[in-house]
Amino acid sequence: MKHCINPTDFTTDEIKNLIMLAEDIIDNPQKYAESCKGKQLATLFFEPSTRTRLSFTSAMLALGGQVIGFDDAQSSSVAKGETLADTVRVVSSYSDIMAIRHPKEGAALVASMFGDVPIINAGDGSHSHPTQTLTDLLTIHKELGRLDNLTIGLCGDLKYGRTVYSLIGAMQKYQNIHFVLIPAKGLELSSEFFEDLKMSENLSFSSVDSLEDAMEYLDVLYMTRTQRERFTSATEYDECKSKVILSTEQMKLAKENMIVLHPLPRVDEISPDVDSDPRAAYFRQAGNGKYIRMSLILTLLKTVEKKIQAPNVPYKASSQKCLNGVCITNSEPVSLLSYFSKQRCYCAYCDDLIK
Ligand code: CP
Repeated sequence: MKHCINPTDFTTDEIKNLIMLAEDIIDNPQKYAESCKGKQLATLFFEPSTRTRLSFTSAMLALGGQVIGFDDAQSSSVAKGETLADTVRVVSSYSDIMAIRHPKEGAALVASMFGDVPIINAGDGSHSHPTQTLTDLLTIHKELGRLDNLTIGLCGDLKYGRTVYSLIGAMQKYQNIHFVLIPAKGLELSSEFFEDLKMSENLSFSSVDSLEDAMEYLDVLYMTRTQRERFTSATEYDECKSKVILSTEQMKLAKENMIVLHPLPRVDEISPDVDSDPRAAYFRQAGNGKYIRMSLILTLLKTVEKKIQAPNVPYKASSQKCLNGVCITNSEPVSLLSYFSKQRCYCAYCDDLIK
């Protein structure tokens, strides 16, 4: 494991080791208090964040390391027109490991091609958010004691929610996972993604129109907010905004040991009354984010080799650009790389279908 770009980059053994290490850190924080002494984490956040950026910062400080970076692209030389590729090249000579959040899909993959330190994808557009997924997996493991044999409800914005795509991608490696889709109207899972998922042997899917129809069957309810920042107009956002709000009444229908997760921030999709229900695990989940990020930083720094790594899927370079307008290939000095999966051709940066 050199970089952390997509949740599918990890084997189940690697995820198990990351979770075990995070659990040991939770139990024995002092043991790790100087593990990153003399090391620097750079946090390059081109989009707003509370949890991800601050939990990375808190994680590195708790490991005895230091943190540099920015949380506003306008305060960096990107505002003068510098590319992500050049920014990463430069910052990798000031740091030992880098966490990047960027609105363009595939940005972290580009960063991994131009930097020579481990790159962690802290969210790239609607594409992927692997450290949120690791946080989700740690939380499910801590709360329910397993990652197999789960019925997981996905509720809200399933179209733009990168945490949803990342969680589904990661769960393909576990046994007997059933997803119940409860999308807000107009915010269903991308049909291409869904078609491919249906071919995955470990996953099965069903769809329902309301939370009430799903509650009694769920082990995990994964709530999401409507991703306002991915809409092109306020009118479009208002039309699609989820009307589904989890209430204490609906919680009465759920199993006693069901857990409610939410990557946060919450807008209005979970009533604050639900917070005091012991099954509401979303604030515990946010807390776990620090420990899984400590585990990831330690693991990546242990395996670091100071050289640019080739992408880990059979990529094919070309001079084309991706047709996805928010794909990083359209704004960075990179040629399109593609890969084949299930006889279809995909962009290696944003995973959109090419033909
Ligand atoms: N869950 C999450 O990514 O939160 P932030 O946007 O606050 O980092």
